[in-house]
Amino acid sequence: MRIVLGVGGGIAAYKVASLLRLFTEAGHNVTVIPTEAATRFVGTATWEALSGNPVSNSVFDGVHQVNHVRLGHEADLVVIAPATADLLARAATGQADDLLTNTLLMAHGPVLFAPAMHTEMWQHPATQANVETLRSRGAAVLEPATGRLTGADSGPGRLPEPEAIFDAALALMQGQTDFQMPLAGRTVTISAGGTREPLDPVRFLGNRSSGKQGVALAVAARNAGATVRLLAAHMDVPPPPGVEVVPVETALQLREAALAAAGDSDVFIMSAAVADFRPAVVSDTKIKKRDDSADPVITLVRNPDILQELVDVRNAAGPAGQHRLIVGFAAETGDSQGDVLAYAEAKLQRKGCDLLVVNHVGSDKVFGQDTNSVVILSRSGSEPQEAAGTKAEVSAAIISRIGYELNHVALN
Ligand code: CTP
Repeated sequence: MRIVLGVGGGIAAYKVASLLRLFTEAGHNVTVIPTEAATRFVGTATWEALSGNPVSNSVFDGVHQVNHVRLGHEADLVVIAPATADLLARAATGQADDLLTNTLLMAHGPVLFAPAMHTEMWQHPATQANVETLRSRGAAVLEPATGRLTGADSGPGRLPEPEAIFDAALALMQGQTDFQMPLAGRTVTISAGGTREPLDPVRFLGNRSSGKQGVALAVAARNAGATVRLLAAHMDVPPPPGVEVVPVETALQLREAALAAAGDSDVFIMSAAVADFRPAVVSDTKIKKRDDSADPVITLVRNPDILQELVDVRNAAGPAGQHRLIVGFAAETGDSQGDVLAYAEAKLQRKGCDLLVVNHVGSDKVFGQDTNSVVILSRSGSEPQEAAGTKAEVSAAIISRIGYELNHVALN
């Protein structure tokens, strides 16, 4: 595909170098058009070297090729990142005072804006009106991410992560026009992987969780516009880019990290496989086999139920905690006493979380697999929802359900 990447004059321009790499590594032919102001943040040499194409920001360069006409007509997609307040205003009013805005007026294909600016500028009615205008004309305007901005301030206005812009661009090229960013401005904490409970310096009790579902949830939440924090116990897969990673090993470490993260999390997803028990005693030295003594017996003690504690902390916070949504996972096999859903429904009520994602596990199911089939139970009483497919597809369904609960269902 031919992509025009328009770079606005904001500090986030440096992050767009990573976006450019994602496009070129996926085999796309990218022409970068920085605004004059953008070249004060990142020089044209960087864009030329990374794209392999000449870079200009003037309609008076290469006049014989009538560049703005050629680039606009040839582009399968135009991506503007960072879309500054000024650039959004110029695009909305149809100004054509440099190569980029001329190219925008000539563009036949889809156009994606990824805004970045200070919160006040983003929330200003002038900017919001410009965004509305652009959307009403069919352009896709992403919601900015929330978090630390250039100065000491923080709030909505951060450039969405390059991977999120990349995924949105691909979706747009595939014809998706309805850009839902249901978690824009939200902070989502996700625990993933399996805890390891040490016996001695070389041995531990662990479980078969691969972390794939938690990582897929982190990607889906990131792409839905959230600021994502991943509390990563042992995982077989690397954490995704564009999320904050807090590594943990044991259930007790995960509990500490979870309680520290609870206060500023709008959504908490406990997808980690937490060991219910840990060895009562952890030996400082390796446990040796000896012929002259009996075989060791390992005594286990209960680990705290982190999900339960998160619910208790949220409920104790009163109105301050009311907006926080807590999602648990349940791995159930069912048995002669009850079926999978009956056990899951009882667990949802017992733990008091808002949503419970139920995996039906068997010896060959779920752990380490790339596909999954779940039922999402809600405490608000709505119908159980089924989701099946790849872990990415299941995660997208879970995240979209979370967005729905946050935006449409009163919590608690
Ligand atoms: N969980 C937790 N802390 C624990 C154990 C589990 O926070 N010590 C969380 C898991 O991350 C998951 C949910 O609780 O979100 C359900 O875990 P599961 O092991 O299915 O249920 P249990 O409470 O352990 O109940 P049971 O063993 O009776 O099935």
